[in-house]
Amino acid sequence: VDISVKATGGNATSPHQYGFLHEDINNSGDGGLYAELIRNRAFQSSNKFNSTLEGWTSVNGAALSLKDLAEPLSKALKTSMHVAAGSSSNGSSGHQVGFSNDGYWGMDVKVQPYAGSFWVKGAYEGSFTASLQSNLTGEVFGSTEIKAKTSPSEWVEHEFKLTPTKNAPNSNNTFSLTFDAAGAKDGSLDFNLISLFPPTYKGRKNGLRIDLAEAIKGFHPTLLRIPGGNMLEGNNRNSWWDWKNTLGPLKDRPGFSGVWNYQQSNGLGLMEYLELAEDMELEIVLGVYNGLSLDGDILSKEELVPFVEDALNQIEFVSGAASTKWGAVRASLGHPAPFKLQYVEVGNEDWLAGKEAGWASFKEYRFPMFLEAINKAHPHITVISSGSVFDGYEIPAPGAGDYHIYGTPDSLVDQFDLFDNVTIPHIIGEAAAVHPNGGKGWDAGLLEYPWWSGTIGEAVSMIGYERNADRIIGAAYAPIIRSLDRWQWSAVMIQFAADPAKTTLSTSWYLWELFAGHLMTHTLPASADFNPLYYVTGKNEEKGSYLFKGAVFNATTDEVPVSVVFEGLKPGTEAELTVLSGPEDPYGFNDPFTGVNVVKTAKTKVVSDTEGKFTFSLPDLSIAVLETKGA
Ligand code: AHR
Repeated sequence: VDISVKATGGNATSPHQYGFLHEDINNSGDGGLYAELIRNRAFQSSNKFNSTLEGWTSVNGAALSLKDLAEPLSKALKTSMHVAAGSSSNGSSGHQVGFSNDGYWGMDVKVQPYAGSFWVKGAYEGSFTASLQSNLTGEVFGSTEIKAKTSPSEWVEHEFKLTPTKNAPNSNNTFSLTFDAAGAKDGSLDFNLISLFPPTYKGRKNGLRIDLAEAIKGFHPTLLRIPGGNMLEGNNRNSWWDWKNTLGPLKDRPGFSGVWNYQQSNGLGLMEYLELAEDMELEIVLGVYNGLSLDGDILSKEELVPFVEDALNQIEFVSGAASTKWGAVRASLGHPAPFKLQYVEVGNEDWLAGKEAGWASFKEYRFPMFLEAINKAHPHITVISSGSVFDGYEIPAPGAGDYHIYGTPDSLVDQFDLFDNVTIPHIIGEAAAVHPNGGKGWDAGLLEYPWWSGTIGEAVSMIGYERNADRIIGAAYAPIIRSLDRWQWSAVMIQFAADPAKTTLSTSWYLWELFAGHLMTHTLPASADFNPLYYVTGKNEEKGSYLFKGAVFNATTDEVPVSVVFEGLKPGTEAELTVLSGPEDPYGFNDPFTGVNVVKTAKTKVVSDTEGKFTFSLPDLSIAVLETKGA
C-alpha cells in the first residue's frame, strides 16, 4: 500500500480523542478505583437492598447485630452495628472483643501508612485496637491502640494511623477492631462508618487506589464520561444517581441503590470524579439525569421542570464561580476554583431504557428542554443528546450526539466510514469489542476478556473516528475496569482483584495506549485505498511531527508492505515506528491468572529514503503508529 500524504487539507482534531466512561459496575467504584478497603462500611440500604452485616465477622464471641437507633449517626446513615460482649465477656480486664472485615474479597497489606476512622457511641473506658492480619494464619502484620473518647449519648469519631511492620504474603487478610469488654459499661458499643484507606493516588483524602489509577492514566486518556451509563439513570425515578447525595462528609452520604446489583456507598461522588479529572487532566462529559430511569418510567414535561433546574445547579456546582450558590458549596468542600466544563450529556441511552415512548419523549421535549436551558445559561457548553443520528434523531443545533457501539470485530470494522458524512458533532460515549464474529451476539453473553482480533476491530473503528476528529469530540472505552471477584460485564480494559499483582492490562489497553499516546492536531488527506490496511495520517503542530496510524484486518497475505510519504518532508527524516502484533490465536487474551501477555510490541527507528518514503511491512492483525521526530 503506497500512501501519499498531502501537506494541507484535512481536519483539526479534537484534543480529547481517547478516554473512558466510569460508572460503578463490576465493583469498579466501591472495592475498585475508590480506595476504601472496608466493605459495607456503613451498613447502607436503599429501596432495593437491605442493610446487612455482609463482610463483617465477630471477634472473640462478640454478638454483632444491626440497629436503627433513635439517635443514628446521621440522617444519611441510620443503621449501625451493635457489638455486645455478651457471655463472651468474663468480666476480667483485657478480654478483647470486636469485629473484623474481610474487605472487598481480601485486602492488600503492606508496610505503608493506612488512614482509619470509625464512629462509636456508648460508655467505654479504655482503648481500641485496630489491626491488619492474615485470614489464614492469624499473623498480625500491624496494629495500633486508639484511646477511647466515647460518650453514651453522642456519636464520636475516632481517627487513627496504622503502619504494618511487615508486607503480607497475599491479599487474604482482614482488618479488625477490638475493645476491652470489661471497659464497656453496659457490655456493648455501637459502631458506624468504619473506614480504612491505604495511601491514595496523588495523596487525596477519600481518594483512589494507586495501581488502578496509574493503570488508567497509563493509557493517556484525555476524556472522562461520568457518571454513566446506567448508573446515571438509576432503577426508577426515586433512585437515579443524585449528585447531591454524593457530596461532603461521608456521614452525610446515604449510599446509592446500585443498578448493577449491589448497594453502593456514594464514597466515589461527584467531587471525587472532578478531582480525578483534575489529577489526570481529563476533559469531562458530565451526564445529567433527564427524567428517564431503567424501568422505562418517563417524567412528563411538568414533572421534568425541577430536573432541568437541578441540572443547572449541578453545572453551577462544577463550573460556577465560588460566589454563586452552588459554586460556594464546591468551595466549602475545598475547591474554590471552578472546574472546566465544556460538555454536558442529557441522560443515557434513552433509545434503550425508554423504548419507543422514552425515545419519542426525549426527542419531543426532554432533550429540547435541557438544550434550551443549558444553552441559555451556559452558551459555551456543548449539550449532548444521549443518542446519535444513527438512532433516528435529527439532533437540533447546537446539540451534539452520542453513539455507542459494543460490537464484533467485523461490525467495528464496518464503522470505519460511519461518520464520514455526518456533520453533527458526536462523542462515541461507549465502545468496545465484546462479541466474536459469527457468534450469538448478546444471546451468548460477552467474551470473558478483550481478545486480540476484537482489539484490531476497535483499532479500525478508532481510526475511522479519528479521521473525522473535527466532529468526533472523543471516544470512551466502556466499562473501564472489573473486579475479578464480582462483575457484571466481562470485557473491560483493566482487570483487578484485592491483590495488585492481579491488575491486568487487556489487549485493548495496549491499542488505546498507543493511539492516545500519539495525538494529532490535524489530519492530512492521503491517497491510498483502505482494506486490509485502514489508516489515518496527519500532523501534530505542537510537536512538529507527522503521523500515520494504521491497522491491518483480514489481509490475504502474511505481511502487508507499506510506504508512506509526507508531502514537503525532506528525505532522510527520522521516525519511530511502533507495531503491536498478537498471538497466533486471534482469540488470545491477556490473562490475569497466568500473567500471560499476548501483545508483542516492536519499536524501530525508520528513516525516509531519497524519495521521502518510509517503508515497512505490517503483519495481518496488527496495529501501527509511525511518528516523525518533532521539530
Ligand atoms: O457500559 C455498560 C452499560 O452499557 C452502560 O451502563 C450502558 O450505558 C450500556 O448499555
